[in-house]
Amino acid sequence: MEFSIKQSGPEKQRSDCVVVGVYDGGKLSPSAQILDKAAKHALSDLIARGDISGKAASTLLLHKLTGIAAERVLLVGLGKASESTNKTSVDILRATFSALNNTPAKDATLYIVDEGFGKDSTWIIRQATFSAAESVYRADSLKSKPAKTAALKSVTFATLDKPAAILKSTLDQAAATAHGMDLAKTLGNLPGNVCTPTYLATKALALGKAHKSIKTTVLEEKDMQKLGMGSLLSVTQGSEQPAKLITLEYHGADKKHKPIVLVGKGITFDSGGISLKPGAEMDEMKYDMCGAASVLGTIQAIAEMGLKLNVVGVIPTCENMPNGKATKPGDIVASMSGQTIEILNTDAEGRLILCDALTYSKKFNPDTIIDIATLTGACVIALGHVASGMFSNEDKLAKELLAAGDQAHDRIWQLPLWDDYQPLLDSNFADMQNIGGRAGGTITAACFLARFTKEYRWAHLDIAGTAWKSGKEKGATGRPVPLLTQYLINRTQKS
Ligand code: BES
Ligand code: MN
Ligand code: ZN
Repeated sequence: MEFSIKQSGPEKQRSDCVVVGVYDGGKLSPSAQILDKAAKHALSDLIARGDISGKAASTLLLHKLTGIAAERVLLVGLGKASESTNKTSVDILRATFSALNNTPAKDATLYIVDEGFGKDSTWIIRQATFSAAESVYRADSLKSKPAKTAALKSVTFATLDKPAAILKSTLDQAAATAHGMDLAKTLGNLPGNVCTPTYLATKALALGKAHKSIKTTVLEEKDMQKLGMGSLLSVTQGSEQPAKLITLEYHGADKKHKPIVLVGKGITFDSGGISLKPGAEMDEMKYDMCGAASVLGTIQAIAEMGLKLNVVGVIPTCENMPNGKATKPGDIVASMSGQTIEILNTDAEGRLILCDALTYSKKFNPDTIIDIATLTGACVIALGHVASGMFSNEDKLAKELLAAGDQAHDRIWQLPLWDDYQPLLDSNFADMQNIGGRAGGTITAACFLARFTKEYRWAHLDIAGTAWKSGKEKGATGRPVPLLTQYLINRTQKS
């Protein structure tokens, strides 16, 4: 999908479809008024006859209007400007692209930036770009006959006045972010028998080949053994697939700038191990590598942008499977940090691979570490599928992430990391145990990770409820690539 932005008059625009807005009660937006005049009041007539009300996210497609150069005109209801929310704005954009995809239009010109639906224009450009990309996304690589590809190939955002430079750069960044989300979704949707740790490593190496600014390294199990990663290796013990530790170093700034390290959980299938999960919806545990996929998507996005920043992606990846060699409940392992862990539940494996990856990350002399993980079912219970859980040991970092989440509409909610929760992880036999009981399960998981990140500025994102959708709409969402990318963009603007 190609994206562009330009100034142009809606009546003269040669396009397969021009999109303009109508407010609740039938009030035409400025660009719709221009079309109406050129088309001898065809639009006001339709409103007078009650064909379109302007209700938010309603649409009406018109063909070959006299006096208008475009093949089609799509009228989109914008609702009441005074009642506009994030949700109504996103609903309007989704309805727009769904209506466009019901036509054979290959290109579309949207007059929606001037409107802003009560939001600032950069917010609208970002969301419109994500909606457009989402509307044509297909996960059909493994169907014997690929699904019909969408006709829509090119989207132009048009403005009545000259577009500000900030809108152009926002659009370029949003397009790169959408490409990163696409990568994250595609990897997430692939089944566990295709998307193995080795497959993820191959994809990471390919990113390094495609971008001069990215250097990829892959460590094997014997390397991890030498590093003392007993916790990570205990998870892969019952699997036939070899574990990998992938690092992607993105150099966009001078070497003297400390990098931001992104650590992504890459369990390519989580059966639970000996603490085997129940059968229902177990297939969805192929999505347990969505943290890793979001790191790959984000690194690809910032490389495409040429962001002036140093970022390292660290991806511990393996399967969590039961067999005769698998880790058993009660087993005690030594982590790379030296701290020992009593594994009371082999299904709490995410924290076991992350803790060694977090210790390993020290080697990059990080400015900040952010880990991203489909870590706990309890997070889905707490926050549902709207917000990702967020924890941080520094308030400034927490605030920056919250702000980036709002800007990118990829929202997070902060939960407490108080040491009052820490005793729940005490063990009689090791330095800690890997579970803290049912109460506050998301928090005790974060508290476990906090024991390995004391020396840094660190945040943890639990994306268990937001990385994919279940049911009829089953599929990866590409989250939190928008949040992470926005945070990194904002970091270049501050330093
Ligand atoms: N990958 C799961 C978390 C998960 C479960 C994400 C369901 C999304 C949906 C994680 O490895 C896990 O199994 N966590 C356990 C932890 C428990 C044993 C303390 C959980 O949440 O049940
Ligand atoms: Mn698990
Ligand atoms: Zn898991």
